Amino acid sequence: MSLPFRMSKRALRTPEPPISWLMKYALDCPQCISLAAGFVDTDTLPVEIVGACTDDLMASADTGRAALQYGTTIGLPALRRQIVDRLAADDGITFEANRVDADCAIVTSGSQQLLFLISDVLLDEGDIVILGGPSYFVYMGILHSMGAIARTVPMDADGMDVDALERVLADLERAGQLDRVKLVYDVSFFQNPMGVSLSTERRKRMLQIVQRFSKRHRIFILEDAAYKELRFADPSLPPTKKFDTTNEWVLYTGTFCKPFSAGMKTGFGVLPKEILEPVLRQKGNHDFGSANLNQMIISRAVARGDYDRHVQKVRAGYRKKAAVMADGIRKYFPAATTWYEPQGGLYIWAELPASIPTGPDSEFFKAALAQNVLYVPGDFCFYPNSGYEGTRSAMRLSYGVAAPGQVAEGIKRLGELACEMLSSGVAAK
Ligand SMILES: Cc1ncc(COP(=O)(O)O)c(C=O)c1O
Repeated sequence: MSLPFRMSKRALRTPEPPISWLMKYALDCPQCISLAAGFVDTDTLPVEIVGACTDDLMASADTGRAALQYGTTIGLPALRRQIVDRLAADDGITFEANRVDADCAIVTSGSQQLLFLISDVLLDEGDIVILGGPSYFVYMGILHSMGAIARTVPMDADGMDVDALERVLADLERAGQLDRVKLVYDVSFFQNPMGVSLSTERRKRMLQIVQRFSKRHRIFILEDAAYKELRFADPSLPPTKKFDTTNEWVLYTGTFCKPFSAGMKTGFGVLPKEILEPVLRQKGNHDFGSANLNQMIISRAVARGDYDRHVQKVRAGYRKKAAVMADGIRKYFPAATTWYEPQGGLYIWAELPASIPTGPDSEFFKAALAQNVLYVPGDFCFYPNSGYEGTRSAMRLSYGVAAPGQVAEGIKRLGELACEMLSSGVAAK
């Protein structure tokens, strides 16, 4: 008989991702309509662009070999320059205004890696991170692993409620716990799961609030801008980073996965230099650099203008599918459903009347599965025991990967189910 092994505390604290079984279920059930996965639309993936850029790179032995060799830990210089140039052109984030230049940019293996690295660099067991309720559940997994304590602040149509953020920080100060607060985590554009964006006013106030409560150490804002480019209309809201005029307070993360290719798993960050260094040391331990070939392909696509043309197409596609979902909700969901018409991103958050819980053990969820429709139960998006646990009746609905016809059919089935349960009064459980 083999001997048992002993896992680290960190491994023991790390729960199974709550939706991994849902993803597996979707794969094993080809007739299922999955409104659960936050995957990007398979039909829009940039096969031709990536093919042309790869051919270009491989057409010369020099560029081909460079692409097939290891790169640097911090990432491809050309791509890092493009990342800051784009922030300058789109948002006016510059060295003059924000002390941001290419030396502050890092390329990572998806933005998820950077969220992990930043958290790893900043958080000891028992440290506190403030986040929205609901929030991106995969980030919550990182907090569990780190043994961090989450405090949840409610969200509304304008993103995180910054008055509530202020109250939470004041409570922590009164309780003598301000020294443990390291981060405010915010998905500031078309949030996962609610689809809402932080208003410009709240961006400014969030920054002022963290500055005011940074008494003996800096409380950072971790601005996760994963969905920034997936807006349905121009102009973009300014990133919270734009108001960080000294490049000291906002740790900005972004990705090429959502707007371009998830399979290339390339993300990036723009960070204050003092935190970039420890992040790089951790990244060195992880992988000493992200895939050079992918970075070179993306850099080429950006330089040729293909990237921007592609993003325009992707936006138009999601805008159409979001409208299909929104129309279906208007038509089929109970009138008392609370939801926000998406302006970008991949999600609609729908809160059914409180008498219809939507959690994984609920009658509604089971009935939806029986009708071959999958959604992410809203319960997964609230950090347990973190001060605010929101509603039990919400669903995260994604129009990312399902075809428009499936989106329409899936929403119809869910809506009719909810209406039936409401009228027969069987829902609550
Ligand atoms: C809010 C948010 N942040 C970060 C990520 C990570 O994306 P990636 O690592 O693919 O860049 C995701 C992916 O779904 C996300 O939804």
